[in-house]
Amino acid sequence: EDLGIVAVGFSGGQGKPGVDAAPTALIESGLLTQLRDELGYNLHGHDAVHSYPDLVATSADQDPPHRGMKNPRSVSAVTRRIADQVYSHAREGRLVLTLGGDHSIAIGTIAGSAKAVRERLGRDIAVIWVDAHADINTPETSDSGNVHGMPVSFLTGLAREEKEEFFGWLKDEHRISVKKLVYIGLRDVDAGEKKILRENGIKAFSMFDIDRHGIGRVVEMALAHIGNDTPIHLSFDVDALDPMWAPSTGTPVRGGLTLREGDYICESVHQTGSLVAVDLVEVNPRLASDVDVGAHETVRAGCSIVRCALGESLL
Ligand code: ARG
Ligand code: MN
Ligand code: MN
Ligand code: MN
Repeated sequence: EDLGIVAVGFSGGQGKPGVDAAPTALIESGLLTQLRDELGYNLHGHDAVHSYPDLVATSADQDPPHRGMKNPRSVSAVTRRIADQVYSHAREGRLVLTLGGDHSIAIGTIAGSAKAVRERLGRDIAVIWVDAHADINTPETSDSGNVHGMPVSFLTGLAREEKEEFFGWLKDEHRISVKKLVYIGLRDVDAGEKKILRENGIKAFSMFDIDRHGIGRVVEMALAHIGNDTPIHLSFDVDALDPMWAPSTGTPVRGGLTLREGDYICESVHQTGSLVAVDLVEVNPRLASDVDVGAHETVRAGCSIVRCALGESLL
């Protein structure tokens, strides 16, 4: 099977440097070799880690805030380019793996796969967003101004902008319906986000739901919500995992998924046969109380998540 790889070394959706080093760390730990040699994928686009130097502002005064968003021009331009890259792979019928980078890059990955799948199959994609956070702030509800807390609001059209340089390039063809979105793993959702989830009837399974029903039942309900035979884009924020397994990330929240629960979600999604794209984001190999151990463990967990999503452990 053909697999398109988009390795994105970008950190402008939040304030902590280091998340841009994740793709290289994941690749150096052998992830792509495993996907090729052990899982048998034909890799495309795996030779480069992209940092988009032509699109990223080199000083803060070149990219002042807009509607409270930090680095808005850079994030808009980079995600627009990522959308093209993912689109090109998906248009060829390739499964697409994007290695982030912070979660703002999902504006690009999901826009690109939504557009490609519409053209190729005439279908709307569903999105499974696995995360401690809902990342559905609008620029106005966000306390931080970090765009990695806003991708879902732009992708669903809850946040909109006319101006091309501030995500105005996002058109209907790139967007997803709030009805085809489902969250798993939530435990740190801002008050404004809770209101958005409630008012739009968005399906969300929090850690409470996982404790109550177990991961097996939660995944079953999540997939039932999406419906059979719907193309699925899986966006996996490594901070969905408990910091015990993934300490090296910018916004860790205790009380998260075990690695095995994370792997199980990915295996189940793979097993549907409907997976069209996977993102793995927010690995930051420069962060942890003990950076060497923490980064190694987090990279290892990230690799496990990706291999499971691509079918490794299914017999
Ligand atoms: N809700 C917070 C914010 O809007 C945290 C978002 C964390 N997002 C992430 N992709 N790690 O800033
Ligand atoms: Mn998160
Ligand atoms: Mn996230
Ligand atoms: Mn398979």
